[in-house]
Amino acid sequence: MPPLLDIQNLTVTFDTDDGPVTAVNQLSLTLEQGQILGLVGESGCGKSVTAMSILRLLPQPSTRITSGKILFHGHDLLQLPTAELQDIRGSRISMIFQEPMTALSPLHRIGNQLVETLQIHRKMPRKQAWPTAAHWLKRVGLPDAEERMYAYPHQLSGGQRQRVMIAMAMMLDPAVLIADEPTTALDVTVQAQIFDLMHEMHKNNTGMLFITHDMGAIWQMCTHVAVMYATEIVETGTVQEIFSNPQHPYTRALLAAIPANTAPGNPLPAIPGAVPSPRNLPKGCHFSDRCPHAFDKCHAQHPDLYPTPCGQSRCFLSEEKT
Ligand SMILES: Nc1ncnc2c1ncn2[C@@H]1O[C@H](COP(=O)(O)OP(=O)(O)O)[C@@H](O)[C@H]1O
Ligand SMILES: [Mg+2]
Repeated sequence: MPPLLDIQNLTVTFDTDDGPVTAVNQLSLTLEQGQILGLVGESGCGKSVTAMSILRLLPQPSTRITSGKILFHGHDLLQLPTAELQDIRGSRISMIFQEPMTALSPLHRIGNQLVETLQIHRKMPRKQAWPTAAHWLKRVGLPDAEERMYAYPHQLSGGQRQRVMIAMAMMLDPAVLIADEPTTALDVTVQAQIFDLMHEMHKNNTGMLFITHDMGAIWQMCTHVAVMYATEIVETGTVQEIFSNPQHPYTRALLAAIPANTAPGNPLPAIPGAVPSPRNLPKGCHFSDRCPHAFDKCHAQHPDLYPTPCGQSRCFLSEEKT
C-alpha cells in the first residue's frame, strides 16, 4: 500500500524585508496507513510551516515552496488546481490548530458552521445536517450540545471550542488529520479527553500527523515520531525505539525535559541556549552550539541523515556506527 501522505524534499522560503528566509529545508516525512506520526521540536523549528504547506495555507505571495512534493493518494497536493484542493481540504484531510479560532468564524453560530460544513462536504440537506451536527457535539462531550448549537464561539471556553473543531473533523471522517499543538492551551484533564477522541478517530482508520513540542504527548499519542530541529528532520523512528534508544543528542535533550522524568522538587531541565533563527543557522550541525557531544567536525560540516536500527539520525555519532 502506498503511504497516506508522502512529503518529499520540501523546502519553504519566506520573502521578507530582509531577504529570503528558508524555514523548512529538504524535509521528507511519510505517514503510513494506521500510523500516528508525531512531529516534535521546540518552538520555531518549522513544524507549523510544514503542516500549513500540506494544505497550502501559507500566506501568499510571500511564501515560496522552492522544492518538493506532497503526495496524497499519489497526487501532488502542491500541483493540484485550487478547486480540487478545496475538495480535499476538510473532507479528506482535516486540520486542527492550537487556536480553534483559526478555523471557526467569530460571526456565526456553532451550529450553522457545522451544518454548513456538512452541506458542503457531505452534500447533506440542512434538515438532516442539524441533528447530525448536534449528535457530533454530544459525541465530543460538549455539555448541553443542543443548546450549544446556538452559541457563538466566544461564548465557549477554549477546551469547548477545541471540541467543536474536533467534532467538525470527526464528522467528515477524513483519511488524514493534521493536529498542530491541539492541546497546548488546555489543562491536562481536557487534554486527556481530546487525546481520547483522537485515538477514537485513529481506531476508525484516520491517519494522523500530530505536532507538539512535548515528548510526553508523543508518548501518549503516537506510534512513530520525527524530531525536527532548526528547519530539518534530525531523527526518525518508532516511539518505542526513540524512547528506549534515542540516537540524536537533541532527541535525548527533549526526552530529559519531560516533566515526569524529573524527580519532584528538582527544577525542570531546560535545554541550554535557544533554537537558532533560520536566518542565522550554524555552519555545521544546526544543534552543534548546544550539543554536549559536539566535536570539531560538527562545527564545520553539516551531517546527513544516517540509518539507525529503526529510522534515521542526523548526527556524526550515528555515522560512525554505520
Ligand atoms: N509568515 C512568515 N514570514 C516569515 N517567517 C516566518 C513566517 N511564518 C513562520 N516564519 C518563520 O519560520 C520559522 C518556523 O516557524 P514555525 O513553523 O511556526 O515553527 P514551530 O511551529 O515549529 O514553532 C520561524 O523561525 C519563523 O520565524
Ligand atoms: Mg507551531
